Amino acid sequence: NRNIPHDKNLDNSLTLLQEGYLFIKNRTEKYQSDLFEARLLGEKVLCISGEEAAKVFYDDSLFQRKGAAPKRIQKSLFGENAIQSMDGEAHIHRKLLFMSLMTPPHQKRLTKLAIQEWEALIPKWEGAKHVVLFDEAKKLLTRIACKWAGVPLKESELEERAEDFYAMVDAFGAAGPRHWKGRRARSRTEEWVKSIMEGVRNGTYSAEKGSALYEMAFHKELNGRQLDVQMASVELINVLRPIVATATFIVFAAVAVHEYPEVKQQLQSGPPEYLEMFAQEVRRYYPFGPFLGARARKNFTWKEAEITEGMLVLLDMYGTNHDERLWSSPNEFRPERFKDWDGSLFDFIPQGGGDPAKGHRCPGEGITVEIIKTSINFLVNFLNYNVPVQNLNFSLSRMPSLPESGFVMDNIRKK
Ligand code: HEM
Repeated sequence: NRNIPHDKNLDNSLTLLQEGYLFIKNRTEKYQSDLFEARLLGEKVLCISGEEAAKVFYDDSLFQRKGAAPKRIQKSLFGENAIQSMDGEAHIHRKLLFMSLMTPPHQKRLTKLAIQEWEALIPKWEGAKHVVLFDEAKKLLTRIACKWAGVPLKESELEERAEDFYAMVDAFGAAGPRHWKGRRARSRTEEWVKSIMEGVRNGTYSAEKGSALYEMAFHKELNGRQLDVQMASVELINVLRPIVATATFIVFAAVAVHEYPEVKQQLQSGPPEYLEMFAQEVRRYYPFGPFLGARARKNFTWKEAEITEGMLVLLDMYGTNHDERLWSSPNEFRPERFKDWDGSLFDFIPQGGGDPAKGHRCPGEGITVEIIKTSINFLVNFLNYNVPVQNLNFSLSRMPSLPESGFVMDNIRKK
């Protein structure tokens, strides 16, 4: 590949952890190119960014996920051999199960539970000296995720389960202790969910038809066989954990409300559509998913790059969401920009691109947007609170990122 820029470093694994969300963008800007080659973890990797990059990345005749996610990510974030690393018909079949659990009625059920739980917190918050929104959100989301999924959860275990769900997410950009914490969290969570799943399968615990617990427990693969208890549990965790992870966006959203008074005012007295545009801008502007990986199925050429079978390709999610060709003044927080957004499947990719029913794009975007909307509407229109002096900075090199303080509020009163 002589025609395309090469990063000169012998191995970029460390630089990647240091530069985090900007690793790819720093180089596409430097080389003025949508693509460049680098060496990561001892192999040659092609990094690509932008709308056309997303289009080619989601062409499943060209790319597959098998062998793309490192084992360390599977052992912390995803779960081993789960939906994220499947391909072809088996993937589509499994994906339909997930899609059937994320329909608008499911979204409604979840947001209804969220409102109830937020409201139930008011008396406690009014009596508290201060409250850390991130901690409250993780617990609330764990509670509603389990309730919605039909997973029994004791109040006494709530905090530990919530921490474990988030620790799996928090491990993805880590080496060392944070990675191991995520792996321990996964083992504990899998043991717990497996014991419930076993009960459902042998009839000692009855799950409600239509619930995520039931549907995962009795899902049949294309060969007509049920998932084994381990796999069914891993996939159930694949819907519980990301619901808890939306706490990150809730906190970023609260920061936006705090830092942009005109945004807050629009949320209070602007048109109802503003809330949705706000939630979209939160997902575009703030860092969460950095990039995605897939392997080439065959040899082919894209924009002068010769891509060889098996080559690892990374798609820049963060950079595409901040690409100047797609977003004017990408580093400004401006919900109104979504008024004229054309709904492309490939330019706005905070949770992946393409059609979720046909590829790997996140099936949980509807749930994510509705949870952000409900939670921010609650904060802005149901409560008065102060935001005391604190460190709200977030790092673009720490993956995943989060405002330092987790968003502390005090003097909370019901409106
Ligand atoms: C996949 C991000 C919330 C369930 C993904 C992918 C990303 C992502 C980047 C990978 C896309 C790809 O591989 O092409 C996020 C973010 C969320 C979020 C940032 C907000 C916190 C959710 C929610 C659910 C969910 C709420 C379910 C309730 C899934 C599943 C997959 C997935 C099952 C695997 C899909 C597949 O491999 O086919 N998500 N997600 N996510 N997400 Fe989400």
